[in-house]
Amino acid sequence: MAFKDPFGRQINYLRVSLTDRCNFRCRYCRPQKNFNWLPPEAILSYEELLTILSVARKLGISRLRLTGGEPLIRREVLRLLERLADLGFEDLALTTNGFFLAQMAQDLKTAGLKRVNVSLDSLNPQTFKEITGVDGLKQVLRGLFAALEAGLSPVKVNVVVMRGVNHKEIPALASLSLKAPFHIRFIEFMPIGEETSWAENLFVPEEEIRHLLEDLGPLEPAIVRGTGPAKVFRLPGAPGTIGFISSQSHAFCHRCNRLRLTPEGHLRPCLFSDQEIDLRTVLRSGGGEEEIAFAFRKALRAKPASRTREGGPHRSMTSIGG
Ligand code: GTP
Ligand code: 5AD
Ligand code: SF4
Repeated sequence: MAFKDPFGRQINYLRVSLTDRCNFRCRYCRPQKNFNWLPPEAILSYEELLTILSVARKLGISRLRLTGGEPLIRREVLRLLERLADLGFEDLALTTNGFFLAQMAQDLKTAGLKRVNVSLDSLNPQTFKEITGVDGLKQVLRGLFAALEAGLSPVKVNVVVMRGVNHKEIPALASLSLKAPFHIRFIEFMPIGEETSWAENLFVPEEEIRHLLEDLGPLEPAIVRGTGPAKVFRLPGAPGTIGFISSQSHAFCHRCNRLRLTPEGHLRPCLFSDQEIDLRTVLRSGGGEEEIAFAFRKALRAKPASRTREGGPHRSMTSIGG
């Protein structure tokens, strides 16, 4: 069934944040102080989530991505995946910081996960620690290879580029695509959340990132599974690809295909808008399939044509899920 917004965009993709908690403290994502986690009772139970997702599936949502916080720290996430597999989504993906992937990749695959996107912002252990707050580079690299081995492919790598922090590592990170089928995506730093560390002087636009890649060779257009905002290219002969996610310099809202569900069950029509539709209350006050579908349609109608230019949402990335 076609599930279209008022601007004719087909919405077939839902990003579901399973938890706002994370074992990392990435400076681009989380407020560094005074962060209040949602209390456990605020978060949707798996039963509640599955009820919502079975309605979403019927409405035309065919692609699902689990996010966080860190989705792999939510208890019994494998059990959830097994049950999601029964709902018959065409794509079932997960975005993770990679810390637990080495130990979980095979089980995730067996439970029905199709693919992973992993954050990796530096190949230098010290810089990695400065960005994430955790001495975890080796562990994440192990996780990336474990994901490949388990067949959780395509394995995509998310690099949030920050001037003076990791921008000099752009060629080294891009070169990972020459060594193995890793799909590296350079992401323009977005101003999201009230107390994150976004600052104009940290921002590096796509054009400059491309310039820093010139010595590696020509970039040829390429295609990788996924329907997200990345523009994708390949270095000659590379098994992997290089992509750009440039929401600041090249808005991609005209091809937006998504809604978001927060850990406490609010539907967000747009990453950059603070408007939310409270599905949890619908559910906890006895609402059934029809009322849930009504809330989804309301979210669809509320999708803006494009993000508002000034500032970002007040809510931090760690509780929206990117
Ligand atoms: P696939 O293409 O399906 O692999 O997913 P994806 O690239 O959309 O997912 P991922 O979770 O890896 O997100 C990569 C980056 O894109 C993150 O920085 C997200 O915040 C950003 N992103 C994802 N969706 C949107 C969106 O709708 N708007 C904006 N502005 N950024 C987005
Ligand atoms: N700007 C751009 N990307 C971000 N991410 C988190 N915070 C930001 C931000 N402020 C990305 C991370 C993660 C994905 C879910 O969102 O790369 O992999
Ligand atoms: Fe869609 Fe909003 Fe993202 Fe633009 S910023 S692509 S409208 S979710």
